[in-house]
Formats: sequence, structure tokens, C-alpha cells
Amino acid sequence: MTKITVLKGDGIGPEIMDAGLNILSVFKEKGLFDYEISEELVGGAAIDAVGKPLPEKTVESCQSSDAILLGAIGGPKWDDCKERPEAGLLALRKQLSLYANIRPIQVSEELVHLSPIKEDRIAGTDFVIVRELTGGIYFGEPRQLNDTEALDTCVYTKEEIERIMRAAFELAQTRRKKVTSVDKSNVLATSKLWRKVAEEVSQDYPDVTLEHQLVDSCAMVMITKPKEFDVIVTENMFGDILSDEASVLTGSLGVLASSSLSKTGIHLFEPIHGSAPDIAGQNVANPLSMIYSVTMMLRDSFKQYKLADMVDEAVKKVMQKGIMTKDLGGNYSTTDVTKYIREELIEIIGG
Ligand code: NAD
Ligand code: IPM
Ligand code: MN
Repeated sequence: MTKITVLKGDGIGPEIMDAGLNILSVFKEKGLFDYEISEELVGGAAIDAVGKPLPEKTVESCQSSDAILLGAIGGPKWDDCKERPEAGLLALRKQLSLYANIRPIQVSEELVHLSPIKEDRIAGTDFVIVRELTGGIYFGEPRQLNDTEALDTCVYTKEEIERIMRAAFELAQTRRKKVTSVDKSNVLATSKLWRKVAEEVSQDYPDVTLEHQLVDSCAMVMITKPKEFDVIVTENMFGDILSDEASVLTGSLGVLASSSLSKTGIHLFEPIHGSAPDIAGQNVANPLSMIYSVTMMLRDSFKQYKLADMVDEAVKKVMQKGIMTKDLGGNYSTTDVTKYIREELIEIIGG
């Protein structure tokens, strides 16, 4: 039996996870996709229950799963904890070698008018940020903090850069065959190696065009000419920042999903946003980030392309009717949007 480990996490995490699982369960009810769920703790919820953000039991469940779904972690309640919720997520990524974080950015027809950026600049935008997820300044040692001095270390090995580059080039081969490698090679040593390895790897993909861009100017072009991008490949922290910036194009952070891929074949799927403490518990969070995370799981882990397409179609129909959460200018609740998507999906399956 296919096993999915579900990590709801904190804040809006449980609310949007319920939405994602609600949609997935339609396929089970209709006999189209069977699975069992193992729900485990991560983040603040795990700190509260067992005193640490990533219990061994959670890791063991993930390691014996076919895929992992994660809601979101973190929140002000745990900001002063010795080990914060975020440490649990980072440790999970590291321990499961989830090195390639794929963050698709598409400006849909239904949402194009919701961005603060002019419509003609962003209509048709369709790119993917491939973010290196297990290296760089997030994990480098030494790391020190005292009252007068602090130190973080950014480290990348050739091997780490090469594998994320290959992921980006292979993805580009299935798309418009362009890779933009983003770095800060005018300043950073890690970026100089990044650029050199990008050039070397590109030799193996002659059908794909490689261009380099400095991260500061990339941040600007992403807003002014986002249609120029196909696949952006970048290191951990640049990818984190650029992907939240990209959410401005799509109207809301609440519509962006990601897959974190590992060579083990056990992948993790999660929204790109956080636990949104400002709206948690109000039933107003946009469930689309989690529902799209479920479709990414259906495609990347289970090759269930038709099922994922059906969910996309159901979401599109619901959005066309103006049924949206507050972040997209609507006044429907999380559970209402989910209910309408469920109904559309059942209709699509039936017809
Ligand atoms: P955030 O992404 O949680 O929220 C930023 C803004 O976007 C908020 O105004 C929030 O209401 C809005 N937003 C986010 N998701 C939404 C959704 N689905 N629907 C509607 N609006 C949505 O960022 P933050 O407030 O800076 O961070 C809050 C906590 O989340 C922090 O503890 C942070 O470390 C954590 N975090 C976790 C993850 C993760 O679990 N992968 C990612 C980012 C941040
Ligand atoms: C993300 C988040 C995480 C990150 C935090 C919560 C550690 O911002 O998934 O984008 O920085 O990777
Ligand atoms: Mn982030």
C-alpha cells in the first residue's frame, strides 16, 4: 500500500493540510488512487508534544514512506526556544537529502489582474525556480553567536553544485530549454565555483542555453521582465528570497507549491510560504498552495498525471467563478474554497 507521511505543522499548516487531504481523498473514494496516511509531528507542534522539532519517529515514518506532505512550521510562540521549529524542517531536508527544491511560478489568466505589477508585463509568465536545498549558508559550519559577534559560513562543494545543475538542465529539456544560473560571482567564492560548475555541466546539455545572472539584477528582472525566465537555478538562500519575490507576480504567496526531490525517491511536497501566524485559526488561508503541493506529489512521486490534471481543472473552474480566499480579493473561507474544488473534481471525474 502506498504510504504518505503527513506533517501538518503549525499555524495555518493544519488548516491547509486538511484541504489538500480532502481533495486527495476524492481519488480514494472513487477507487482511482489508494494510499494510507501516517500523521507525524514536526516543528512547534513537535516541540510542544515531545520537546524537539524533529522527533526520530517522524524521520522513521518519512523514511518508510512513498512521499511526504508538509503544511508549514514556525510561529512567534517558539521564537525563543533553544531549538526552533525551523531547525526541524532544515534537519528533515538534510536527513532525507532533499536537495532539489522545485518552485513553479505561473501567472494564471484568472489571477493576472491581482498582481501589483502591470498585466502586460506578467501575463504568460511561466518559470521554475530550482533552489538548492541542503547546502550553502543554511548548513555551513562553523556557526557562532555571542553578544558582540556572529558568524555563518557558506560552503558549497562541486558535487553539490553539479547535482542541482543537472536537475535544472534536465528540467529545462522538458520545457523551453533555457537555464538562468543565478549567483553573486562578482563577490562570493561559492558563487565563482557555482558559475564554473554551471559552465562545465552545460557541456552535457547542448540543447539547453545557459545564461548567468547576478542575484541582485535577477531580483529586478523578475519584476520587470519575468517572461524572460524558463528555469532559474540558484543556491539555497538566493532561492528562498527570490521565490517569495516571485509570489508577487502570481497575486499571492498562498498559491505557490513546491516539491523537494531526493535521489532516494522519497520526495517531500510543501507550500513555499510559512505558517502565516497573522491569519492562523481564522479559516481564511488560501488552500491552493497545499492543493497544488498534492498535485506535484501526484506527478513527481506517483506519475498520476491525469489525476493531477483533473485537480488543476477543478481549481481553474472554481477560480473562474470568483470563488477565492481573502488574499486573492475574495471572501470565501478555506473550507468553502476546498468544498467547491471537491465538488468540481467529483463532477470532472464523473463526466
Ligand atoms: P509566511 O509565509 O508565513 O507569511 C507571509 C505573509 O503571507 C503573511 O501575511 C501571511 O498571512 C501570508 N500568507 C502565507 N501563506 C498564505 C496562505 N496560504 N493564504 C493566505 N495568506 C498567506 O511568512 P512569515 O510570516 O515571515 O513567517 C511565519 C513563520 O513561518 C515563521 O516562523 C517562519 O520561519 C515560518 N516559515 C515556515 C516555512 C515552512 O514551513 N516551509 C516557510 C516560510 C516561513
Ligand atoms: C522556506 C522557508 C524555510 C527556508 C525556513 C522556514 C527555514 O522560508 O521553506 O522557504 O528558509 O528554507
Ligand atoms: Mn522561504
